[in-house]
Amino acid sequence: MVLEVHTRKHIEERVRAGVLEQGTVELLTEMGVADRLKREGLVHHGVEFRFRGQGHRIDFQSLVGRSITIYAQQEVVKDLVAARLATGGQIVFEAEDATVHDLASKSPKIRYRKDGVEHELACDFIAGCDGFHGVCRASIEKSLTIYDRTYPFAWLGILAQAPPSSEELIYANHELGFALLSMRSPEISRLYIQCDPDEDIANWPDARIWEQLHLRFATRDGAWKLTEGPVIQKNIAEMRSFVADPMQYGRLFLAGDAAHIVPPTGAKGLNLAATDARVLARAIANFYSSGGTDLMERYSEICLRRCWKVQHFSWWMTSMLHRIPGESAFDQQRQLAELDYVTSSRAASTALAEHYTGLPFTM
Ligand code: PHB
Repeated sequence: MVLEVHTRKHIEERVRAGVLEQGTVELLTEMGVADRLKREGLVHHGVEFRFRGQGHRIDFQSLVGRSITIYAQQEVVKDLVAARLATGGQIVFEAEDATVHDLASKSPKIRYRKDGVEHELACDFIAGCDGFHGVCRASIEKSLTIYDRTYPFAWLGILAQAPPSSEELIYANHELGFALLSMRSPEISRLYIQCDPDEDIANWPDARIWEQLHLRFATRDGAWKLTEGPVIQKNIAEMRSFVADPMQYGRLFLAGDAAHIVPPTGAKGLNLAATDARVLARAIANFYSSGGTDLMERYSEICLRRCWKVQHFSWWMTSMLHRIPGESAFDQQRQLAELDYVTSSRAASTALAEHYTGLPFTM
């Protein structure tokens, strides 16, 4: 049974991530929820890094034989909700004030309110998929070790009704700050620029955003053109790295943002959440088919092992691409040298391609 605090409309429209690792696409395919993804998703075989006014492509296909797919998170949510309801699964939308109880017992409880009526669910297991600000992690905070890091910059993101100016994503390191070109469809661009974390979005009229995007993506030969279009959505997102260890307490299992946050440079948040769910689903299936608890006992260890590698990758991409307030000229040169190495060494670009398209799934 799924409890969702928001309305179905809200979660199906909320603008979030957009990059699926190949393993996430394979998972959704195995689950039988990838028909629309296969039709509408944009398969990318590489990515561009742009610095010193020049583009450098990393070719995933030739380096690791894998790809990524651009398909918006809210579209994945739509497909999952539809599949769940079609197979008779229950989703309670607008479940308010949920709290979790008796987590160490064989029958943990969830209390919540729906349409003014109080409910109590007796569960075998609780999957805490309620995000960074949810109640599940907060309920077991005392038993957790928390690893946390914030960054002195944020991302201002826009969705624009403009055909993407590049077929593949562009990560730009520029002295004015990081910029990212992404997309949602052949008609919609998703663009980001680095800004201050306490920036007021009111200070960023569309014209100022476009001006910064033009400057940060400009190539030395002046040949590259950024296509503008009406801005249909605008937001500022803080950047953080966060891990809760262990990801489990009794019969409560934390998954996704409830357990860990990565900065968005590397597009790993959704994919990491999907792998948690994959491990947990196997553990639960195993329990009901054979009574085995081995996978459940190892849930946190399995997930955190992958999580920390992804944490390192996301931190590394973030550190390599952003202007860091107070950084020295030495640090800037070191960043550029790192980008130069990553985009010119076969060994280094293979490592990047392996991480970006998704580490192999192991249990
Ligand atoms: C996005 O399309 O929203 C996106 C793409 C790549 C990232 C982060 C976000 O690294």
